[in-house]
Amino acid sequence: MASARSLRRIRIGRADDVRDGACLQVEVAGCSLGLFRVGGQFRAVLNHCPHEGAPVCRGTVRGTTLPSVPGTFRWGRENEILACPWHGWEFALDSGQCLTDRRRLAMFPTEVADDGTLYVLMRGPATPKPAIPSTDASPAPRRHAAGTEDTSR
Ligand code: FES
Repeated sequence: MASARSLRRIRIGRADDVRDGACLQVEVAGCSLGLFRVGGQFRAVLNHCPHEGAPVCRGTVRGTTLPSVPGTFRWGRENEILACPWHGWEFALDSGQCLTDRRRLAMFPTEVADDGTLYVLMRGPATPKPAIPSTDASPAPRRHAAGTEDTSR
């Protein structure tokens, strides 16, 4: 496993651009990522569902049903769960863990600088790609091209 020193810090944009309950989708270093804000923390998720490869970041950010006694229904964890658009598997955005399977989302560490700039930490060269507009009618996450900064540490 690479040490933190071999990670590249890739500038995404302003942390304020990532809103609770929404996804900011970016293309960076050849990867499609979704940026989420969960409880004040930022999560960078690879846009690939570990079930059958759906663009999971196009799913819905919501809550989920909580354990409860028979005959009752409890809803909770609002804005902490990402539901895949293909088969509805639910993933905890704090850990990437699927709620009903052992598989989990691939995630990348993030950092927010004092000036409010949001970075994703990734291995390898950073090759930003231009934003790709949505081509279907479903609500799409906002996209923009991430900038890069040669900040190898
Ligand atoms: S591809 Fe995501 S739940 Fe099936």
